[in-house]
Amino acid sequence: MIQLHDVSFSYPQSTAVSHVTYTFEMGKCYVLHGPNGCGKSTLFRILNGLDFPTSGKYFFDGEEITEKKMRSQKFAKSFHKRIGYVFQNSEIQLFTKSVEDEIAFGLHQLGLADGEIISRVEKYIRLLKLQNVRSRAPFNLSGGEKKRAALAAVLAMEPSVLILDEPISGLDEEGQKWITQFICSIKSPDKLIILATHNREFIKQIADVEIIMNKEHRFESSIPY
Ligand SMILES: Nc1ncnc2c1ncn2[C@@H]1O[C@H](COP(=O)(O)OP(=O)(O)O)[C@@H](O)[C@H]1O
Ligand SMILES: [Mg+2]
Repeated sequence: MIQLHDVSFSYPQSTAVSHVTYTFEMGKCYVLHGPNGCGKSTLFRILNGLDFPTSGKYFFDGEEITEKKMRSQKFAKSFHKRIGYVFQNSEIQLFTKSVEDEIAFGLHQLGLADGEIISRVEKYIRLLKLQNVRSRAPFNLSGGEKKRAALAAVLAMEPSVLILDEPISGLDEEGQKWITQFICSIKSPDKLIILATHNREFIKQIADVEIIMNKEHRFESSIPY
């Protein structure tokens, strides 16, 4: 589904991803971990078409993702329909005046019919247990509620590829458990999940494949479970 061919990425002052060649297959949950600054978030930005390899190639379902193609609204829209991304600081993703609006926003962007939008908003409020905060402004929710709201907004678009950057960081134990179980529950043969975490327990519970990224910004090893 996702192929990286010798992908490197450098910021003006520093390298963030170095010579990564890897294939991510549908139906699996990949967990990426490695020291702070090894390049996980940068790689995720590339996978989501927000940054582009400085060298090397990124193929999504056989199609190379390039800056030029992503400038086409039509292409970008169909790409974003298929891949969802929850940021490491997911609160910066929340910008509307209520949790409901937050979930509906992306669905309007996808051009779905009103009836479909209403039913998906209800479904994902229920799935992510957001009933009690559905009318509240996302920016003053608790950390766990913000994470669940960001997840709901992305999941409601029903992407087949889901990229989650440190989805349990900053949550208390109960919140971590809940999100872990939830992510396990959405694993399916027609979904590809790639996430980053520092939490060993989380890796054990959730990973089909564990990828270690090292401080040289490379994929050091990939361990199937
Ligand atoms: N916007 C940016 N501008 C310049 N350097 C950055 C930026 N974002 C990240 N970096 C640098 O790129 C490297 C990889 O960072 P990042 O992808 O955030 O790693 P991780 O998510 O694994 O902690 C680090 O050296 C970091 O300082
Ligand atoms: Mg990061």
